[in-house]
Amino acid sequence: MQYSQKVLDHFMKPHNLGKLDTSNAEATEGSPACGDQVSIWLNVNEDTQVIEDIGFLSYGCASNIATASIITDMAKGKTIAEAKAISWKEAAEELDGLPPVKMHCSVLAVDTLRKAIKNYEIAHHLIESDKGSLNKEMILAELAKILYPKVGEDLISLKMVKYASVNEDGLVTIDVEIPKFDQYRENVADEIREHIEKLPGVKKVTINL
Ligand code: FES
Repeated sequence: MQYSQKVLDHFMKPHNLGKLDTSNAEATEGSPACGDQVSIWLNVNEDTQVIEDIGFLSYGCASNIATASIITDMAKGKTIAEAKAISWKEAAEELDGLPPVKMHCSVLAVDTLRKAIKNYEIAHHLIESDKGSLNKEMILAELAKILYPKVGEDLISLKMVKYASVNEDGLVTIDVEIPKFDQYRENVADEIREHIEKLPGVKKVTINL
C-alpha cells in the first residue's frame, strides 16, 4: 500500500501522543469497519473555549495514527467551534492523501475529536445531551441486528459497514461493502432501509453499496 511521506512521518513520530494529565473532556470511539479504537483528551480553556492541549491514543492502523496525529495538530489552538468543523477529507488532504480503503481510518479519528468536543459541550451545558434522540450509536445498534444471509452473521460483526453517520436534519448515510455480484446485495439494502427508517427522527437514508 502506497502511503505519502507525511503519513509515514506522522505514523513514525506521532504528535500529541498520550493521555493528558489534566483534561476536561475525552472520548473513545470504535470503527465499525475494522474494530479499531481511538481515544482523545482535551484541555479546553473554559473562558475562551480554545483547545489549549490535546492528546490521543490509537489502537488502530498507521493511517489512523497518522490522522489522529494531524487532526490533534490542526485542533490545537482552535476554538471548539472551529475544531468541530475539521472534516476527515481535510485531514486526509493535510496528509497528502490516504489510500481509498483507508479513508474510514481518518473518519474514525475525526469522529472521536467531534465526540470529545460534544462531551465537553454537554458537560458544560453548552448543548443538550442527545441521549434518546437519534445518534450514530443507535444506527450502529440497528445495523448489528441485520444478518448477512450468506453467512448468518450480522453486518457489524462481519465489518461490512464502512461508514455510518447521521446529521441534525435526520439524514442518515451508510456505506456497506458488499461484492458487486452478490445475490443478496438488494436484500441487504432493503433490510437496512427498513430497519433504519423506523428509528425516530430519521428523514432520509442513503445507502452506498
Ligand atoms: Fe482500523 Fe485503520 S483504523 S484499519
